[in-house]
Amino acid sequence: MSKNIIPYGKQSISQADIDAVTETLKSDFLTQGPKVKAFETAFAEYIGSKYAVAVANGTAALHLNCLALNLKAGQKVITTPITFAASANCVKYCGGEVLFADIDPKTYLIDIDSVRKLLEKDSDIVGIIPVDFAGRAVDMEAFKNLADQYNCWIIEDSCHSPGGYFVDANDQKQNCGNGQFADLAIFSFHPVKHIAAGEGGMITTNDKSLYEKLLILRTHGITKDSDQFQNSMELAIAQSPDDNSQWPAWYMEMQELGYNYRLSDIHAALGLSQLEKADQGLKKRIEIAKKYNEAFEGQDFIKGHSGLVDGHAYHLYVLEVDDRYGLFNYLREHDIYAQIHYIPLHLMPYYQSQGWKQGDFPHAENYYKNCISIPMYPGLTDEEQNFVIETIKTFYNG
Ligand SMILES: Cc1ncc(COP(=O)(O)O)c(C=O)c1O
Repeated sequence: MSKNIIPYGKQSISQADIDAVTETLKSDFLTQGPKVKAFETAFAEYIGSKYAVAVANGTAALHLNCLALNLKAGQKVITTPITFAASANCVKYCGGEVLFADIDPKTYLIDIDSVRKLLEKDSDIVGIIPVDFAGRAVDMEAFKNLADQYNCWIIEDSCHSPGGYFVDANDQKQNCGNGQFADLAIFSFHPVKHIAAGEGGMITTNDKSLYEKLLILRTHGITKDSDQFQNSMELAIAQSPDDNSQWPAWYMEMQELGYNYRLSDIHAALGLSQLEKADQGLKKRIEIAKKYNEAFEGQDFIKGHSGLVDGHAYHLYVLEVDDRYGLFNYLREHDIYAQIHYIPLHLMPYYQSQGWKQGDFPHAENYYKNCISIPMYPGLTDEEQNFVIETIKTFYNG
């Protein structure tokens, strides 16, 4: 992208990031090695979960979660239509069926009452995938209470919300993805996300057995842990062992049908270095949101916006406006590359082929008519933000 274009989101790469990657390139490990382990440990600490498993990307994280939770063909899972395709596609990868629930038009998040209605009438539903859309935290405690009533698991899609939180019934801050309420949570390190690793994903959980299952599924279903071996030592060595206490160093077992969803040490080095700046980046995102909020307060063309919400991680700053199409094009003419998040997933041809149609989710469809994500990233300068604000106001007010 040319340096004059102001995109809706962008990574910030520092010299420290470049040094971290260079150091790894000179080390003995390129694929999964010590940097992956260090990234997992630091990320779990940042989020406040017991365990973290680094994987190739956020989509792989979602897929592995569905596998670890034993999602079977024909079982149903609920998610929101206002999300990236991967939040739903992971269910299809396992042969499951996706059910959508409408959004709350005030928060743009999946509406818990719509989810409850689905659960009341369909006993084949086994899980819920709420999404902390745009960086706004879902009240995971409320979802956990609901999920427990119907014996469902929860995967929290926190791709937009590292550093975000909600406040629970005991007045405690609960970080997105901390595993207190959801069984599993996932994050993405795609360049527009808070922590950019080029590609990359992370699964967080407080459940030891799920954690151990994920470690194996991430790497072909193979384990090298002798405590978990299932074959006899005779079969493993293909002859009678001299010493029954010693497994040969070459030996490993493929016990499940897993995948190669590993993250490389190169990506992990970048992720780890970026993580150090995560709080600083989040602070800047909140400042940007505050300034947008002040600038658009009381403007007639605004129908809704992300607002200033405690615990919001501001992956996106969304406006709902009149003539969104006109504004989008006008901003492009002025080299401001806003974006639309999202075209409702149930209206994608693939999901229409599964039976969903226009009119199924009025709040999501109405939101889509008006929404536009305007530039939001830590590297956005004051001058650039002023230009974005002025350009939007000029479009409407002349
Ligand atoms: C909400 C959401 N879920 C899942 C994903 C998938 O992440 P990745 O691109 O790392 O596969 C994304 C990425 O854009 C996302 O925004």
